[in-house]
This record gives sequence, structure tokens and C-alpha cells, in this order.
Amino acid sequence: MLRTFAMAGALVICIIGAAYSEDSSIPDLKDPKVISAGRELYLEKHCSHCHGMSGDGGVNLMHRDLSNPNYLFEAIADGRESGSLRMPAWREVLSEAQIWQVTAYVMSINGRTN
Ligand code: HEC
Repeated sequence: MLRTFAMAGALVICIIGAAYSEDSSIPDLKDPKVISAGRELYLEKHCSHCHGMSGDGGVNLMHRDLSNPNYLFEAIADGRESGSLRMPAWREVLSEAQIWQVTAYVMSINGRTN
């Protein structure tokens, strides 16, 4: 009997947890799975072409303060310009979930979040 209650309780907690995490569209940016999905996109969509394999290339991402995920999301979604260099807006190319994944990857290589 007690076990049944305990299991029902656990189930309720699971359901509440799932509903809550579905509500917030920001994934866990420290989740290795999110980061590695982001890494694949980063290579596949040629972010590495301008920013280098690990963010240390032409348009260097290493020594900036990239600790604000919302800022990064917007920069990637809307695109950025620096002198004659332009980063296209990725909103049309990547889904919101994918932009969060590359955001997680950028934060992981930037190294300021750990
Ligand atoms: C055509 C070259 C190019 C490509 C491809 C590119 N970027 Fe950029 N990116 C830039 C430029 C230029 C800037 C503006 C740099 C600045 O403001 O100093 C920038 C800025 C950024 C910033 C903001 C940096 C800051 O400090 O404001 C992030 C984050 C970023 N890029 C990530 C990405 C990701 C992720 C991808 C792939 C989905 C990508 N970039 C693809 C050229 C590129």
C-alpha cells in the first residue's frame, strides 16, 4: 500500500517536472547532449568557417564575455556586423531549439561559464 502511494507520488512529480520543462523553451545549456548537438550544427552550418573550429578563428569568440545566453541567442538569430564582415541572421536557417544548441556550444568553448 505504502509503495503504491510512493509510486503515485513519484509519477505526479514526473508529470509536473515534464510540464514545467516543456514550458520553458530554453534547454539545459550545460547538458553535454545539447552541447554536442550544437557542435555538430556549428560545423555543419559553417560557423567554424568564420569563427574557427573551436571559436578561435578569424572572427574570434574566445576572449569575449559570452556568458549571457539570451544575448547569444539574439546575436545568432538576428546576425551581426563588424566592419566589412557580416554574419547572416540564422533565424531562417535554424530552429529555435537549434539556436539554443549552438548557443550552448559557443558558451562551452568560450569557457567563461564554468
Ligand atoms: C560569414 C561569417 C560568419 C559565419 C558563417 C558565422 N558568423 Fe558569427 N559572427 C560573424 C561576425 C562578423 C560577427 C560580429 C563580430 C563582432 O561583433 O565583433 C559574428 C558574431 C557572432 C556572435 C556574437 C559575438 C559577440 O560578441 O557579439 C556569435 C555568438 C556568433 N557569431 C556565433 C555564430 C554561430 C553559432 C554561427 C553558425 C550558426 C556563426 N556565428 C556563423 C561572422 C560569422
